Amino acid sequence: MSKIGLIYGSDGGMTEDVCKRLVKILGEDNIDLIEVQNSSTDEVSSYDKLILASSTWGSGDLQSDWEDFEDNLDEIDFSGKTVALLGLGDQDGYGDTFAESLYLLHEKVKAANVIGQTSTEGYDYEESLAVVDDMFLGLVIDEDNQDDLTDERLEAWANQIKADLGL
Ligand SMILES: Cc1cc2nc3c(=O)[nH]c(=O)nc-3n(C[C@H](O)[C@H](O)[C@H](O)COP(=O)(O)O)c2cc1C
Repeated sequence: MSKIGLIYGSDGGMTEDVCKRLVKILGEDNIDLIEVQNSSTDEVSSYDKLILASSTWGSGDLQSDWEDFEDNLDEIDFSGKTVALLGLGDQDGYGDTFAESLYLLHEKVKAANVIGQTSTEGYDYEESLAVVDDMFLGLVIDEDNQDDLTDERLEAWANQIKADLGL
């Protein structure tokens, strides 16, 4: 079985921690966990199955290492690849740009088979570009306000995406 590339960017360590927990659930042998600042276009391109993870910064912006890397995504042919997106945000503090890193990543990988859309139920925010047809474009984790829900959200999402990831 080919491995899955989990590429993440994290300023304060929350996304990194959440990704490590996801790796444990999906199985350490199945995933290469790679910080985006240490990656390359060729490396990301080498995976047929990817999970991309970013927190949201500024006002609905990508995490800073992803901002440095995002142009590289334009060079990758995502058609034929399967991609799941994971976004961290703070619905209370930034409720009008909640988890919009998901939207920005999605814009880059649209050609892929994008899996793992999730319900917006249980979140309380005003606006988010990460919502399309009443669904988040991926999994949204809010460690600032709902860290008690993170484990069950990760478990449910892992179950949702694992068959498409070949697990
Ligand atoms: C200055 C600043 C700006 C932020 N902007 C947003 C935002 O626009 N939307 C959002 O949902 N969360 C926003 N957040 C919350 C972070 O995305 C959240 O705390 C996340 O868990 C940080 O993850 P990290 O430690 O992996 O970088 C912001 C946080 C800070 C401190």
